[in-house]
Amino acid sequence: MKYNIKITKTQNSHLSDVDFDNIPFGRVFSDHMFVAEYRKGKWEDLRIEPFGRFTIHPAAMALHYGQAIFEGMKASKSFEGKPLFFRPEMHARRFNNSARRMCMPEVPEELFLQALDQLVAIDSDWIPPQEGSALYIRPYMFANDEFIGVKPSENYRFIIFTGPVGPYYPKPVSLIAEQEYVRCAVEGGTGEAKVAGNYAASLLPARKANEKGYDQVMWLDANEFRYVQEVGTMNIFFVIDGTVVTPSLNGGILPGITRDSILKIFREKGYKVEERNISIDELMDAFDAGKLQEAFGTGTAAVVAHVSKIAIGDKVMELQPVEKRKLGEMAKKEIDGLRAGKVKDTHGWIVPVKHLELAKA
Ligand code: COI
Repeated sequence: MKYNIKITKTQNSHLSDVDFDNIPFGRVFSDHMFVAEYRKGKWEDLRIEPFGRFTIHPAAMALHYGQAIFEGMKASKSFEGKPLFFRPEMHARRFNNSARRMCMPEVPEELFLQALDQLVAIDSDWIPPQEGSALYIRPYMFANDEFIGVKPSENYRFIIFTGPVGPYYPKPVSLIAEQEYVRCAVEGGTGEAKVAGNYAASLLPARKANEKGYDQVMWLDANEFRYVQEVGTMNIFFVIDGTVVTPSLNGGILPGITRDSILKIFREKGYKVEERNISIDELMDAFDAGKLQEAFGTGTAAVVAHVSKIAIGDKVMELQPVEKRKLGEMAKKEIDGLRAGKVKDTHGWIVPVKHLELAKA
């Protein structure tokens, strides 16, 4: 192991308090976290310690100017009980793309992967064995200078914590096309990066969507309010007349790792797949012609979430029942199957957790 990570284990595990058959998303946290400090141009004080609160200065720059990025990834257990990651290198690379966009230091890929491996190995008993459940992993970094002028911070904290999760969307989701607000993530903006502010900007429109009885917003482009971008919490796919269609990555859309995986799976299985602009008029015409067969969102948290209906102004497009949807179901089964070690991994996406001896030490 290249990096020397100091490990302090908890004396007070709360694993036995967790009901693994009934885990709410995002509210249960495992016993340990990884922490590193960026000071004077290098990462230091690398440590795994008991999960818990920490203090920060009221002037910590991330709290004021939003220099904060994160990743969402998962570890699962194979049907034989082996802990596995899904595409960890791609998450490490995307994290560093986000860091560059926000003028933050990169975390060397080897450090990111070693910290991840050691942390998840120590807490491997926290990975729920149930199919569809997983250990959600949240790497993040924030600006930690104690200063109130606008400039890139010189000090940062990088943390990884984890927690067992069930499905993010237990039921199909309803969407409303957003015709008033735009995702702050326009082309040339921060849309390709996983930055905290992108999600903050989605909250008011999402609340307004909730008040109208919908689960989430479907963002349209910021110039014309015409082309579909993504959903507040995931990328979006449609099946139109047998073709799988998703908005192309135009600089304003998060390059989803589940999105990328599903595109590859569909292409390899010989389905017709298109990454291109999709206008809201095209969707409405396809719906009226009976050709809008499916819609589903994809993301680490959501995996594959079927869309029940999409509203655009006064028009509500109710899609066919989930039981009749072939492609979204197939994509979900493939991803879940890969994570459970039941679908053969021909891409090298599944990476076993290595240092499992740490769990016992
Ligand atoms: C993820 O899919 O992991 C995300 O970060 C999105 C968030 C809605 C949980």
